[in-house]
Amino acid sequence: MDAIRIYGGKCLDGQTAIQGSKNASLPILAATLLIDGTCEIENCPDISDVYHMLRLLESLGCGVVREAALVRVNTRSFSGCDMPADSVGVMRSSVMLAGALLAKTGRICMKYPGGCVIGARPIDLHLRSLRLMGASIEESETGFCAEAARLKGAVLHLPFISVGATENLLLASVLADGVTVIEPAAREPEIRALCGFLQCAGARIEGAGTGRLVIHGVDRLRPVRYRVPADRIVAGTYLSACMCAGGRIFLKDAPADQMESVINCAERMGAAVSREADGILVTGRDHESVCDVVTTGCYPEFPTDMQSLFMAAMALSGRAGRIEETVFENRFRIVSELCKMGADITVQGNVAHVSPAGRLHGAIVRAQELRGGAALVAAALAADGTSIVTNRHYIDRGYEDIVLNLRALGADLELA
Ligand code: UD1
Repeated sequence: MDAIRIYGGKCLDGQTAIQGSKNASLPILAATLLIDGTCEIENCPDISDVYHMLRLLESLGCGVVREAALVRVNTRSFSGCDMPADSVGVMRSSVMLAGALLAKTGRICMKYPGGCVIGARPIDLHLRSLRLMGASIEESETGFCAEAARLKGAVLHLPFISVGATENLLLASVLADGVTVIEPAAREPEIRALCGFLQCAGARIEGAGTGRLVIHGVDRLRPVRYRVPADRIVAGTYLSACMCAGGRIFLKDAPADQMESVINCAERMGAAVSREADGILVTGRDHESVCDVVTTGCYPEFPTDMQSLFMAAMALSGRAGRIEETVFENRFRIVSELCKMGADITVQGNVAHVSPAGRLHGAIVRAQELRGGAALVAAALAADGTSIVTNRHYIDRGYEDIVLNLRALGADLELA
């Protein structure tokens, strides 16, 4: 029961609502550690990464209650015990707890975080910057221990942009002594959401959503209720599924303003996307493609998380395409699986060349990471015959009810 069986060939038609953002809710949940009392997080997606983050918070003694999409985290009973290694191991965002816990308790020991196997994913930027903020850090082969009585504000010049490091350092700096500058900071909407949560709690942050964050440390933060924004990557996933399978779907709450690069690319590849007040309307194949070229980059450029989904759409487009991955070095693991379905894709370094292959056919394929797994489901919707995507647990990390949602859109698929 760790697979999805898809009977391909049905166009999509209907409406689905977009869940809360995974990549916004994880650092926001970590940020609750900085606040004494109960925070209420609305629109928190019911996905396994959030489950693991909540388990980590519980293992630290926090009270955690989930009522549908509302999560309450009470930190009054925080005891700071060890975190379960299996949850730290499976999820990259557990590293976020380092900045928050160091700021809260002055000492943290943890194993190196896990996450999708899409590249080396070191945390050198995180640790180097925490050292500049006064932490003494000892590293071993499996993890690290950090100590700092109170972190000090510092000017942190990062050698390149990192979403996770920006978030971790934000969490480390909001209660630090003095002013911290993070530059270049990542500009992803999820960083803006984290800043929004922290600002509501009383943090003093300038430049949210820009490449330069200035954080004036404060003595304490207060409990807040905060709503997680809709997930732009999940919205992009259903958009891509519609590009693969064809049809017309409405994605309620899809944050079109955060999806410019994805929508532009989809339109260049032949989809029609209409921005409505409460979501987007997607017509999968509306006109001839003028260009099948994708280059990933930091926000606001095309997100690396959407790359495999657009590769699936390209493989089905009947034209040649090219994808350049500039963020992670190992994010083409889906290629061999798409080729099992009849795609013709070759990889040279960080560029994938997609040749016209006609129709795809059903196959048994293996999800090897979260977005790649979703991309295989999208490809299978359009393939002739039956496909089985194994390793569903990767997909469950980030998608709430993907099978039910696609079924509501007219697709024929089931858990297997
Ligand atoms: C986050 C997102 C992920 C997204 C990625 C890029 C979450 C939970 N995950 O991942 O979905 O694909 O941003 O938009 O929000 N790097 C280093 N040293 C470091 C930190 C990063 O070399 O200390 C490298 C990474 O290996 C990678 C690049 O920097 O090649 C970007 O990584 P980063 O932006 O940190 O991604 P994550 O925060 O891991």
